[in-house]
Amino acid sequence: TYVIAEPCVDVLDKACIEECPVDCIYEGGRMLYIHPDECVDCGACEPVCPVEAIFYEDDLPDKWREYTQANVDFFDDLGSPGGASKVGRTEADPAFILALPPQAA
Ligand code: F3S
Ligand code: F3S
Repeated sequence: TYVIAEPCVDVLDKACIEECPVDCIYEGGRMLYIHPDECVDCGACEPVCPVEAIFYEDDLPDKWREYTQANVDFFDDLGSPGGASKVGRTEADPAFILALPPQAA
C-alpha cells in the first residue's frame, strides 16, 4: 500500500484525491489517509503531491515510520467504506497526529 506521511499535516492539498482511481484517500481533520486495503498500489497519487507526503510503504523514510500505523488506525471506526467521496471529512485522526504542533508555515 501507499502511505501518507507528516508533510500532509495541516496542508491537505488534496491533489492526490483527483488521481486515485479507487477513491481510497480519506480526509481527516489534519491530514489525509490512504486506506491500506482499498489502495491498489497504482501509484498515481505519489507524484502529484506538492509537498511529497506520499510514499510506497517500503520507501517511507524511517523518521515517519509511525505514519504507516496512522494510515491503519484512522480506519478503526470507519472500516472499509469502499469510497472516500461519500464519507467526506472525518475527524478520526490518531492521537499522535492531533498532538502535533501546527505544521503549516
Ligand atoms: Fe496531503 Fe499531498 Fe494529498 S498534501 S492531501 S497528500 S496531495
Ligand atoms: Fe490510489 Fe494512490 Fe493507492 S492513487 S490506489 S491511493 S497508490
